[in-house]
Amino acid sequence: MICVDTIESLRAQLAQWRRAGDRILLVPTMGNLHQGHLKLAHEAKRRGGRLVVSIFVNPMQFGAGEDFASYPRTLERDRALLETAGADLLFTPDEKTVYPRGRAGHVEVSVPGLSGELCGASRPGHFTGVATVVCKLFHMVQPDLALFGEKDFQQLLVIRRMAADLDIPVEIIGVATEREPSGLAMSSRNQYLSEDERQRAALLYRVLQGLAEDLKLGEADYPALEREAARRLSEGGFAPDYVSVRRAADLSVPGPEEPDLVVLAAARLGKARLIDNLRVER
Ligand code: PAF
Repeated sequence: MICVDTIESLRAQLAQWRRAGDRILLVPTMGNLHQGHLKLAHEAKRRGGRLVVSIFVNPMQFGAGEDFASYPRTLERDRALLETAGADLLFTPDEKTVYPRGRAGHVEVSVPGLSGELCGASRPGHFTGVATVVCKLFHMVQPDLALFGEKDFQQLLVIRRMAADLDIPVEIIGVATEREPSGLAMSSRNQYLSEDERQRAALLYRVLQGLAEDLKLGEADYPALEREAARRLSEGGFAPDYVSVRRAADLSVPGPEEPDLVVLAAARLGKARLIDNLRVER
């Protein structure tokens, strides 16, 4: 696996692969890799091409008082995992490379509407930070394909919309959430949970499963279902941020007959803010 940290060396290597006719696949990450990231890498390799994985803890997507400083940075371990996963190139730019003139005054890419909902409402500016850095990575790497986890469902839709509106010629693939045997969605932030909290954290998934079952049975009083789900989370020791039933295509509030739904939740447990979602087709 080739490791580079400058845009020049990244582009030189990519040009060589393109000349040889290889497709370029990109998995952008913030490192601290887990099975969910490795699944993205495997899915990418299965499609064939040269796999580029980026690791950059993007300060622009963290709000004041969030965990930017304490976000786990485990580069040596990540590098070893990516070698085994068959990545061809690891790109690890530093902040100066991504934001050479600093972040203040930097061009921002914002996706109106979608970015202000749900997680965007409690994390103002978060999705602008995500859309900006992913847009930059798309321009640096110019991948044919980019893969993202469906655990961050809202992020996936924001990125799809950003690429479509800016005519970036990349195919974006969403990959199903990887879960612990308990059902807990894998996330770097699970590390903030104590052993006891980790046991209790799987309730988030169970509550979403219950909500999904009710929807499949034809329940359509979404606000009542959301309230009941939030109540169950609070009872289980979570501080729910939101539980919401939305249209899967664009996260708008669905009508009673909508067949393609997604149920999404964000809730705090101890020091961790956990998110999860489930698609419901009916
Ligand atoms: O999902 C993440 O790890 C990040 O939000 C991403 C897409 C790498 C952008 O920094």
